[in-house]
Amino acid sequence: MTEGTQTRKNIDPNKHTGVKVFAPASVANVACGFDILGFALERPGDEILVRYADTPGLKITKITGTKKKLPLDVMGNTAGVAAWKVLEALGETGLGIEMEIHKKMPFGSGLGSSAASAVGGAMAINELLGRPFEKRDLLPFALAGEAVASGGIHADNVAPSLLGGFTLVRDSLTCDIARVPVPRGMFATVVYPYVEVLTKEARAMLKTEVDLKLSIQQSANMGAFIIGMMNSDFDLIRRSLKDLIIEPQRAPLIPHFYEVQKVALAEGVLGCSISGSGPSIFALSNNSLTAENAGKAMQAIFKQHNIECELFISAINNDGAKLV
Ligand code: HSE
Repeated sequence: MTEGTQTRKNIDPNKHTGVKVFAPASVANVACGFDILGFALERPGDEILVRYADTPGLKITKITGTKKKLPLDVMGNTAGVAAWKVLEALGETGLGIEMEIHKKMPFGSGLGSSAASAVGGAMAINELLGRPFEKRDLLPFALAGEAVASGGIHADNVAPSLLGGFTLVRDSLTCDIARVPVPRGMFATVVYPYVEVLTKEARAMLKTEVDLKLSIQQSANMGAFIIGMMNSDFDLIRRSLKDLIIEPQRAPLIPHFYEVQKVALAEGVLGCSISGSGPSIFALSNNSLTAENAGKAMQAIFKQHNIECELFISAINNDGAKLV
C-alpha cells in the first residue's frame, strides 16, 4: 500500500475535543526474519494525547517518562513528524493542536520505542480528526516519523505496533505488509537488561556479505516458520525459530546472552533470540506457563550477574495501536 492509495473519508473536526492513543512495543526480527518480521506486545507501550487548541499549528506541550531529552520541536520528534505528515496529507496543517507524549518504555531497549511513538502520533491525529484514514493507511506517516530516530525506513517495528499481530514486511518503501496468522496459545517473554546497545552501532557492526549456505538455511527457516504459524504447527515453529546470521554477530553486545538463551530453551520455549537490535531478549512459547517460567529463569541469570532487568510476559497483541 502506498501513500497514493489511501482511502480518505470526510474530516469531522467536531467529533472529538481530545483523544488518547496507546501504541504498543514490538519485537522485530523474531530470530528468523531480520528486518522483515515483527510482532506486537500487549505492554509496554506509549500513550499519545492530542487536543484542539486556539493557536494554529501543531505543538508538543509535554513529554513524560523518559530520561533522554526528546525534542519538543515537532520536526525533530518521531510522534511530531508522524502527526504532521497526517495533517499535511489532509491539508490541515493550520489546525491548532496540542500533543502530549507519555513514554512508557525505554529507548534503546530493542522494543521499538521510537516506532511506538511514531505510530501513536499518526493514529492520535487521525482519531482526533474523525478517522479520515483507515488504520493501515497510516503506515507511511508513521514510517516517516520513525525515520527521524532511525535514519532509515524500517517497518519491522512500525507495522506490528500499528496493525498488531505478526507482520511480514515484503517491502518497507511501498508499505507492502502481510499479516501472519498467530496460533492460539502463543505467548511472548521479553527480558530487558539495563545495558546500552545503540541500534546504529548494532547495524554498523554487521557484515555486508552473507555466506550462501547460511542464507539458504535462513530462508528455509523463515519460510518454514510462516508455514508453522499458518498451520499452528508448534514443532515446525520450534525447528525454524533460529537466527544463523545476525544473532552470532550481535550476541557479544549483550552480556550473558547465550546463558540466558540456554535457560529459556531448557524451560521449553519454542525459540529465544535478540529482540530487534537488543539488548532485550525475547522468547516465544506455546502457553503462558512456559512463558512465565522462562521469564523467571532468564531474569535469574541477569540477577546472578548483578545486571538489573525488566520482565514482560505478553500474549501476542492482535489489535496494535488503539484508542484508550
Ligand atoms: N531490524 C532492525 C535491526 C531493528 O535489527 O537492526 C528494528 O528496525
